[in-house]
Amino acid sequence: MDFQPVKGTRDFYPQEMALRNWLAEAWRRVSLRNGFVEFDGPVMEHLDLFRAKSGEEIVSELFSFTDRGGRELALRPEITPTLARMVNARINSLPRPIKWFSIPRLFRAENPQRGRLREFFQWNVDVIGSDDVFPDAECIFTCIDLLAELGLRPEDAIIRIGSRPLTTAMLRKVGVGDDNMEAALAALDKRGRVTPEQFGKSMSELGLSGEATGELCRLQDAKDPSDLLQEGLDGAAGAVGDLLRLRELLETMEAWRFCRFDFSVVRGLAYYTGIVYEVHDAAGRLRAVAGGGRYDNLLEVLGGPAVGATGFGMGDAVLAILLEQAGKLPDLAERLDCFVVTDTDDLLPSVLRLVGGLRRRGVRTDFAARARSLSKLLKEANRRNARYAAIVMDTGRIGLKDLAVGEQADVALDDLLADPAKYFGR
Ligand code: HAM
Repeated sequence: MDFQPVKGTRDFYPQEMALRNWLAEAWRRVSLRNGFVEFDGPVMEHLDLFRAKSGEEIVSELFSFTDRGGRELALRPEITPTLARMVNARINSLPRPIKWFSIPRLFRAENPQRGRLREFFQWNVDVIGSDDVFPDAECIFTCIDLLAELGLRPEDAIIRIGSRPLTTAMLRKVGVGDDNMEAALAALDKRGRVTPEQFGKSMSELGLSGEATGELCRLQDAKDPSDLLQEGLDGAAGAVGDLLRLRELLETMEAWRFCRFDFSVVRGLAYYTGIVYEVHDAAGRLRAVAGGGRYDNLLEVLGGPAVGATGFGMGDAVLAILLEQAGKLPDLAERLDCFVVTDTDDLLPSVLRLVGGLRRRGVRTDFAARARSLSKLLKEANRRNARYAAIVMDTGRIGLKDLAVGEQADVALDDLLADPAKYFGR
């Protein structure tokens, strides 16, 4: 039988694992320096947790099953409902604001395509416990900090910022009623990914005339929040005020250059209530790299108090494609500080003594377990990407060869172990 990995999943051979770890390390480093602390939850949850408020799209993509006790469970397609559940359980004892991050493995039964898989990793950054625009700015700043940390510039990636309340008000203005609102938001979210004809069709199915759809597109294409103040949109003043304040905060933190307003950003998930945003490659060719926004009702819907919440998720798959396109993926080949060799069988105990000592002192070390000709051993040291080859010449002497420049120094084994930093810079 020929066993293949399950559709939409990935095998992480060491090379792919190195990339995955490199990304996760950057996500962690940036989260911590922005004042977030890490959490995680279980990979499976009760199905109802996702039915409550995530919306049709994500529920239709769930890997769900019934356990032997008849409980309906699902593999997590996102971690936001878990975050809300966990915070709700300790809401009175957690000091606020709650600034948490996580790097969960997620599962969605999507049709796999470039950047969209059935199993992936997603960096989540969320602030719970405040209705102010500050935490939205905090999350967006953290997202930008990550992009810049990885070497991306506004010419590579851009954050497009919209507003759920403004979009809802636009839909109301052109005649969409509350019953159709969720479906209309979902159709609008797909506008950039379908043809104008397909979009027109989805809108006419919701009862909108061609003229109303045209008017909706005109409103969506506004370039600045202030332009929407004269359009007679319900609640526009508050939503526009939030967006202008957000821009002011991000300008003050010198991060706005990565941002622009874009009212066509709607977000597919049902729970968003305020500012929403997506990170896209600047050329707009790839799926979203990240998406998020404010979700002020989710904790309450899941049985907790009414507390404000905001945050985003960034997947590993599109990010890796974007970094590759921008030429920002580093060389992640395995590196050794030292590869220990000998051409004399009798000296193998000295090889092991040196290897043990160097490893205990934090020097990244490996060795050839057999004595062979030096030319073969040095080739192997080069293939292993070692900075130095340590050639054990007798029980007490080492030829330390710098493989980058080819120079060799004669060092006493005990001197090498007494002060490895002097030789290896560690
Ligand atoms: P989302 O828009 O569903 O939001 O996902 C956010 C990001 O996760 C996407 O932009 C994409 O990079 C990645 N992603 C989503 N689906 C897939 C997939 N099938 N394969 C690979 N990557 C994928 C959420 O999940 C929200 N819970 C984010 C959030 C956190 N909102 C507030 N806090």
